[in-house]
Amino acid sequence: MKEKEKAQCDLALFGALGDLAQRKLFPALYQLERAGLLHGKLRLLGLAREGLDASGFRGRLLEGLRTHVRKAEQDEAVIERFLSKVDYLGMDFSDQESYQRLAAWRQSSAVPLIVYMATPPAIYGMIGERLSSAGCVDAETRVVVEKPIGHDLASSEEINDQLAAYFRESQLFRIDHYLGKETVQNLIALRFANNLFASQWDQDHISHVEVTVAEKIGIEGRWGYFDKAGQLRDMVQNHLLQLLCLIAMDPPADLSSDSIRDEKVKVLKALRPITPDMMESHLVRGQYTAGSSDGQAVPGYLEEEGANAGSPTETFVALKAEIANWRWSGVPFYLRTGKRLPEKLSQIIIHFKPAPHYIFDPDQKHLANNKLIIRLQPDEGISLQVLTKAQGLDKGMRLRQGPLQLNFSEAFNASRVPDAYERLLWEVMKGNQYLFVRRDEVEYAWRWVDRVIAGWQELGSPPKRYAAGTWGPVASIAMITRDGRSWYEDA
Ligand code: BG6
Repeated sequence: MKEKEKAQCDLALFGALGDLAQRKLFPALYQLERAGLLHGKLRLLGLAREGLDASGFRGRLLEGLRTHVRKAEQDEAVIERFLSKVDYLGMDFSDQESYQRLAAWRQSSAVPLIVYMATPPAIYGMIGERLSSAGCVDAETRVVVEKPIGHDLASSEEINDQLAAYFRESQLFRIDHYLGKETVQNLIALRFANNLFASQWDQDHISHVEVTVAEKIGIEGRWGYFDKAGQLRDMVQNHLLQLLCLIAMDPPADLSSDSIRDEKVKVLKALRPITPDMMESHLVRGQYTAGSSDGQAVPGYLEEEGANAGSPTETFVALKAEIANWRWSGVPFYLRTGKRLPEKLSQIIIHFKPAPHYIFDPDQKHLANNKLIIRLQPDEGISLQVLTKAQGLDKGMRLRQGPLQLNFSEAFNASRVPDAYERLLWEVMKGNQYLFVRRDEVEYAWRWVDRVIAGWQELGSPPKRYAAGTWGPVASIAMITRDGRSWYEDA
């Protein structure tokens, strides 16, 4: 890419020694440098509490890159060039005077400032206020914030109000890292560039949709945070509902951020509330007990480090969502996500309705619906299950189900799929908001999730147990079986 096409900016990263920055953000920025996408004059400023000088910080950064970037992707010349762009400011984020040092770092710079707040959301407002008082904010400033934006509607409104006091909505980039995943963006291309699918994408042609986001890991030392959130707030309120929106939204008028986000909001508004009387049929909460992962014994959620033995927090959720509009009336969206499941797997399965009249062997009737499988991770790709005639003179008109496969890394000869944060940071630098979440999206998602939580609190039933290394409580299988269906892996 030509130098003049690259975005010019200064990037100030609050929380630069934190886990997210070290594990994800700096490796992603390094990969952008390796791909030749960072402007030659781009400057990066790490901000954290520790009193390091720039070279001490670069040393820490280097250690982080050595740990989190694959060995084959560590190019010494690129690392050196990347580190030369990095500076550091050790400061207490609440200390107004320290922000003068940030202002001094910016002084002669005419390019936009991007502020990445890799900090707890409780201090977003304070950082905004201090930055603004120090004269570091102008109309070009962009601010990137991480989830969780609150733990319910009221707290998310409070955080959003605090940000809105200093920044306009067009300056705010709320991250949902699932939107940066290659295959998630591909959903937009798949749906709206292929009339084959676009014309079949509704309740006339689709019987139901499954979204599974399974994780093999447990709580990984995050018990304190996770126990206050639970899987519904941590994964469904954001990642799964965003996937649902991209699957279900109407075609946007164009690819602009607001056109796409307007359509997503319409889906969230049309989500049918899961009321207390629907809990039994529409929702399963689970919590893992001791079991095994990759053949190793692993503790249960309540035996993890730092655990409070009586916690009712869920580590698994399966639910049936319904979208009350013309396109989706009568089409259930089965969502499930959990920790300590047998494998790490995220996939969307669109189950098409069978042809209106069936003429083949009656004993094969169960095969007669096409499925579109969109794999987000691992092995990103798309496969369409189609029916053909089984080969061979003796087979008559027996049917055979087989996949039309598109595996992205094989098909496009790509040696690596970029990490979500690479795409997201790149879009922030270019000032594109379409992969970021607008305030009303966050708030409509919380409105729906809050009602689900209120419903289960009213019922007061504890989560169902499942052994680590299994696909969640049996009740989640029962939920879908009652509708005459099964989760895809079990099919
Ligand atoms: C995060 C959640 O947002 O997403 C974590 O807080 C979860 O609990 C993670 O493990 C999953 O992300 P990915 O990209 O590994 O599927």
